[in-house]
Amino acid sequence: MYKVAILPGDGIGPEVIKEGLKVLKAVGEKYNLRFEIKEYPFGGEAIDKYGDPYPEETKNGCLSSDAVLLGAVGGPKWDRLEGNKRPEAGLLALRKSLKVYANLRPAVLYPYLKKASPLKDELLEKGIDILIVRELTGGIYFGPKGIEPIDSGFRAYDMEVYETHEIERIAVIAFEAALKRKRKVTSVDKANVLESSRLWRKTVEEVAKRYPEVELEHMYVDNCAMQLVKNPTQFDVILTNNMFGDILSDEAAQIVGSIGMLPSASLRGDKVGLYEPIHGSAPDIAGKKIANPLATILSVAMMLQYSFGEEEAAQDIRKAVERALEEGFRTADLGEGIVLSTEEMGDKIVEYVKG
Ligand code: IPM
Ligand code: MN
Repeated sequence: MYKVAILPGDGIGPEVIKEGLKVLKAVGEKYNLRFEIKEYPFGGEAIDKYGDPYPEETKNGCLSSDAVLLGAVGGPKWDRLEGNKRPEAGLLALRKSLKVYANLRPAVLYPYLKKASPLKDELLEKGIDILIVRELTGGIYFGPKGIEPIDSGFRAYDMEVYETHEIERIAVIAFEAALKRKRKVTSVDKANVLESSRLWRKTVEEVAKRYPEVELEHMYVDNCAMQLVKNPTQFDVILTNNMFGDILSDEAAQIVGSIGMLPSASLRGDKVGLYEPIHGSAPDIAGKKIANPLATILSVAMMLQYSFGEEEAAQDIRKAVERALEEGFRTADLGEGIVLSTEEMGDKIVEYVKG
């Protein structure tokens, strides 16, 4: 019996989660897996009900589960709240409380989605298969921050802070992942300017000594942003900090066709994990039945793989997604094809998972 906490959240969150759950139930039936599924309020929804984006009940539920599946949080309704009362603050508190420091974001170009990529055909010929390993519980997201009045207005600051052990453990995750892939790690930093990046670089170099089979290269983040659109095939594993990983993963998502396609797993080295699509709550399309549920469905596949070790079930989901794309089925964000609603796409994946 696997215990899964579900946090639908805001905007398109509940819509995509509904489809993800359908697929989880379908593989459960196929492989005789039993899930105890419990839903909890989170984000803006929880602010409205309890005045807290990450209420105690939700926290207890997540901490006592084997895995957490999250939709998305945030929206214009809560944009004027103070920083630490916003839905996004709940998401950061969730990640911190689960101690999931390693965020894996695979950006894979499905051959059938080449047309959805803004890049020229010749850049896509050799394919794109990048794993972004983003540090998730440190850096500027969690460093000292504040705002204070000064004569000319205000002074605000957010501090980027990393300790050796935080860099070391995320680097290990990246090198271990590279061993199972093309054995290349690109560590992305801004070591020409930032002290925290110089510690990052030095620490990554130390860890690299334990992995002589893996090629390590360092790249400045500005150059990396450019290289991603110039020659994306050069990348295998990108290892980077919390903030750079946030930015580069949106860029990587767009070059493989749509941000609606990228799943993520946030791990802490044992089986407990947090799984979420990398996209946001997209309030502009919420309720229109056009959101792409595939990033969430692929996040369910990551959950089966990383938290439950159910490789075959995870593979079934990935194959079902590939088949749906191959047969021309698309959600609105993916461009030309047989355009399906959120729910129809979920049904299609369930149909293919069943075989
Ligand atoms: C992401 C999101 C979050 C982040 C926001 C919603 C706090 O953009 O998961 O990429 O910045 O980590
Ligand atoms: Mn982001």
